[in-house]
Amino acid sequence: MYVDEELLQTFENGLNPAYPEQSGIRPAILGYGEISTTFSIPAMPDLAFKRMPPFESLDQITDYKAAVNRYCGLLTEEFGIQVADYDFYHMKNRYGEHILYVAQARLPEASIGHRILKSGSRSELEQLMNATLEPLMRLYKFNRENTKKISIGLDGQLSNWSFQCSGENRTTLIYFDITTPMFRMDGRDLLDTEIFLKSCPSFLVWLVRWQFLTEVLDRYHDVRMILVDLVGNFLKEGRDDLIEHALHIINDRLESEKLASEMNPLNRSEIDAYYKNDAFIWTVFLSLRRFDRFLKTRILRQRYNFMLPGKIQR
Ligand SMILES: Nc1ncnc2c1ncn2[C@@H]1O[C@H](COP(=O)(O)OP(=O)(O)OP(=O)(O)O)[C@@H](O)[C@H]1O
Ligand SMILES: [Mg+2]
Repeated sequence: MYVDEELLQTFENGLNPAYPEQSGIRPAILGYGEISTTFSIPAMPDLAFKRMPPFESLDQITDYKAAVNRYCGLLTEEFGIQVADYDFYHMKNRYGEHILYVAQARLPEASIGHRILKSGSRSELEQLMNATLEPLMRLYKFNRENTKKISIGLDGQLSNWSFQCSGENRTTLIYFDITTPMFRMDGRDLLDTEIFLKSCPSFLVWLVRWQFLTEVLDRYHDVRMILVDLVGNFLKEGRDDLIEHALHIINDRLESEKLASEMNPLNRSEIDAYYKNDAFIWTVFLSLRRFDRFLKTRILRQRYNFMLPGKIQR
């Protein structure tokens, strides 16, 4: 992977995270997650960039990079998950902050799960679900047996996978949501989760600690919850009509893997209840972050260091 580091440094120094369109080099937004933003830069169109919240020290960056590397290694070795090529670029910006970019191979937009889902047929849904269930079933067994005293988490949402065609069908998966490496040894997160707190205003620390560090990180270690979350997001993509079918596919799979008794089949009402709660929390979180941005940039006339999503359709 070739990254023009000098250009990236120029990009960083001219970046206006609060209003990215006012930056020296304008990024093109590829997608918004709940926490971070992925974008491309015109001079390097084959790459996707993720800018991490500022780190406090070089040591913190070294630890973070080691956690991501270890996590990606585990995903591949233990579950055969292909992870998108990536590399790290660390720099000090003109404010003296330690900034880390994760660069990734840019995957075709039309291959990304939620794009396919948006206008997908039932048979495409089957391909996506079957391909995703493969590694998720392995993850379930791995965490259940936990022989290495490691528990691994994964955000299985369709928006985190690129589905590549082999022949007629989309069966080859590439996972790319790697910036929150979720794994635990003896119950302890190996990622220093406090780095996420540094990036939020003090009046939001309680919400992030409660929702993100406890609820969200726990959720992604529990394959049943990963599946509820995956299907819940069909509502965000406006594909309520495919939920029943997705649940059938999942429940059939639990049956055939002889996991139905220990995992309990999924049902529609829990998907709706889950989504309602999840959408509410993230809407509140985003509104409060926007309010913080407004305070910092308009009232206090300070610099704001994060790129926030625009309006999210729910
Ligand atoms: N390598 C890539 N190539 C093309 N598009 C990408 C790539 N990585 C991310 N995207 C787009 O950006 C969206 C968000 O990226 P990603 O899932 O990696 O982070 P995230 O969901 O923001 O993570 P988090 O919510 O944990 O911060 C993806 O759904 C996708 O549309
Ligand atoms: Mg994601």
